[in-house]
Amino acid sequence: MRPTVALVILIVLAFAGWGVPSPAVIAQEQPQGDTGADAGADFEGLPEGPGREAVYFTCRACHSLSQFTQQRMSRDDWQAVIDRMIQANNMAEPEPWAKTLILTYLSTHFGVDEQDWGGLPPGEGREDVFYTCQACHSLTTVLQQRLSRRVWDETLVWMIEEQGMPEPEPTEYARILNYLGTYLAPDSPQ
Ligand code: HEC
Ligand code: HEC
Repeated sequence: MRPTVALVILIVLAFAGWGVPSPAVIAQEQPQGDTGADAGADFEGLPEGPGREAVYFTCRACHSLSQFTQQRMSRDDWQAVIDRMIQANNMAEPEPWAKTLILTYLSTHFGVDEQDWGGLPPGEGREDVFYTCQACHSLTTVLQQRLSRRVWDETLVWMIEEQGMPEPEPTEYARILNYLGTYLAPDSPQ
């Protein structure tokens, strides 16, 4: 079946309201390269992705996941939900990196995708770059560069040590560096 045909059928089924496997089911049916310690745990159907554990263990502490898994919101609205949980419902404030991780997970898997990502080419780590780097300057500052992976690494260290960028957790750092070193490399198209 051609992918477009499959997509149309999927959309029709989605409108019909039944018969469509949830993203979690689809994820489980796909062969998994990742056989880490979490393989087997299904996190009550939360789709796989960076931040799943953080969301599961943070949000599950007080209520069922269904409190929010039916929702689709922008990143700003998810940010507001997290702030409400902290300010009004006594949720312990996560470390800044964990908060970003949770926010990115929620807006990726339960978001409304209407972004053009500021011109960043698609690829793993795009979201991390989009949200991390825009906190202080426009993405143009990043997009106009074509640097080797080594120089991107130095640039990130410079952002962290001299410019006050919060240090991303190691896996996020690796995603950001991979993204920059792959898509904004010296031989990448301008
Ligand atoms: C310390 C307890 C606690 C934690 C942790 C917690 N919540 Fe809640 N949450 C609540 C309570 C209490 C309510 C019900 C409040 C109400 O009914 O107005 C609620 C309600 C909600 C609602 C519906 C009402 C609203 O304000 O939008 C959403 C969505 C939600 N939580 C999402 C989350 C997410 C996402 C997380 C994890 C990042 C989380 N919660 C973690 C206590 C918590
Ligand atoms: C906390 C603030 C902050 C964050 C977050 C931040 N930057 Fe910066 N960045 C700066 C400042 C300030 C400058 C200007 C420094 C200067 O020119 O002295 C800058 C400049 C740059 C430059 C230009 C360097 C040059 O030679 O002109 C690049 C490239 C850059 N940042 C990349 C990034 C990337 C990639 C990210 C995200 C991973 C990022 N920055 C996140 C503060 C930040």
